[in-house]
Formats: sequence, C-alpha cells, structure tokens
Amino acid sequence: MDGDRIKTFIKGFDDHLEGGIPRGHVVLLSGTPGTMKSTVAWNILWNNARQRDQKGMYLSLEQSERSLLDQMERFGLGLKGMEDRLSIVDLGTIRGEMARAQIESDKENWASVIKGIVGDAKEQKGLDILALDSLEAYELLFERTMTRNEMFHFFEWLRQLGVTVLLIAEMSPDSNRYSKYDEGFLADGILHLKLSEVSDVDVQRRIRCVKMRGTRHSPGFFNLLVDGQALAITKTILD
Ligand SMILES: Nc1ncnc2c1ncn2[C@@H]1O[C@H](COP(=O)(O)OP(=O)(O)O)[C@@H](O)[C@H]1O
Ligand SMILES: [Mg+2]
Repeated sequence: MDGDRIKTFIKGFDDHLEGGIPRGHVVLLSGTPGTMKSTVAWNILWNNARQRDQKGMYLSLEQSERSLLDQMERFGLGLKGMEDRLSIVDLGTIRGEMARAQIESDKENWASVIKGIVGDAKEQKGLDILALDSLEAYELLFERTMTRNEMFHFFEWLRQLGVTVLLIAEMSPDSNRYSKYDEGFLADGILHLKLSEVSDVDVQRRIRCVKMRGTRHSPGFFNLLVDGQALAITKTILD
C-alpha cells in the first residue's frame, strides 16, 4: 500500500495524507515567495532518493543549480553520493543541450527541449519524481502568456509521463488563487504554503492540503517547522 504513495517526509504530515502523495499525481506546490516551496520540493526529492531509492529530477528554471545546491547544502541536504538518483537541471544545462543539438535558443524551442530532457531521463535512467520550479518561470520562456489550451496540454503531458510531479506555483500576495490561472482544477493535488502573521512581530510558516485526489485528507492548516534537518508539522492552535 505504502508503495503507491510518495511520502512528503514532512514529519506528521503524511499521516494526514493516507501516507503521502499518490504516485503519478501532478501536484501544485503553491505559495507566495519565501514560503519554502523550493525547500519542501527538494526535501521530498532528497528524502525519497535517500531512503526509498526513488529517482528524482529538479528542474530549476528560477535558480541556478549552484545557487539551489548552496541553499540546500546549508541545511545538510547536499547531493553528495546521490548523483545517480537525484539531478538538477537548470537553464544553463538546457542551453547547453540546445547548443549541443544545434537547436536555436528560440522561445518556440524551449518546451520541446525541456520535454526531451525529461523524457530521456525517464527512459534512460528511470524517473519517479519530477519537480518543476516554477510554472511561472516555465511560461516566461515562451515570452508570452500560455493559453488555457496550452496549459491543459502541458498538464496532460506531465500526467502521461507516469511520474509524480511537484509543480511549484508562485502565488501573488494579494490573491487567493493557487496559481496565476486555473491550474488548480487541472492538478490532482494542491499543497498550499503560507506565512501567517500571528502578532505584530511573529510570523509562522503554515502548510495545508487543499486538494488530493483519491485521498482522505484533513483540509486545515498545520504549522510547518524545521526540526534539525527535517521538516515537521504541528497542530495550529492560533489563527
Ligand atoms: N532548513 C531550513 N531552516 C531554516 N530556514 C530555512 C530552511 N530551509 C529554507 N529556509 C529558509 O526559508 C526561506 C524560503 O525558502 P525557499 O524554499 O527558497 O522559499 P520559496 O521557494 O517559497 O521562495 C529562505 O529564506 C530559506 O533560507
Ligand atoms: Mg523558490
């Protein structure tokens, strides 16, 4: 039963998700800047690679590989000894791939090159979990807004990959939408991260499962804490 789920490895949280995210789900990880979206996604990849031998790829379209690694190494979540199971692909890697294949670095080509890199990784080495950071950065590569139709097909493509996808979506501080458009209905799950002001000086990190198809989950917010190297939840009393 457990094998059907990808654990989030956020202590306490998996118990509220019937053990984790159902395999093959496309899940939005939504929040405003600084809510630990990247950290949560990396934690899921890192722990699944380390403890479950799951293969992961972090497609980092916002941060360079170096900057992401520096950030994660600082918290003891470096790549050392796990390079066969966990990889980071950034814009530099993608540009290099385009140059190697003599593909023009044109806005029309980005999507197919990215899809090619993910597809090849899946076929050649196997891929269990893909993190895409972020949906907004992916769209920026097109230099125009994606149509609803294109977004729909992009989700279809992600789903047919047969891997579990963590899709990071930037929320705007003045909106309750989980991403810029209506991807919420296209996604199989939504995890919402937020910073909550509990007094003039105190801000707490929160996490909640808004939606998870095929799962009985609690809809409420939990406090999200860093417990040594691990992430953990506690019940939120204040709100
Ligand atoms: N293990 C940790 N312990 C303490 N602070 C952390 C930890 N992981 C991340 N942070 C801090 O949380 C903040 C937001 O992290 P990040 O994942 O980059 O957010 P987002 O991707 O949502 O913008 C950063 O300032 C980072 O330093
Ligand atoms: Mg980030």
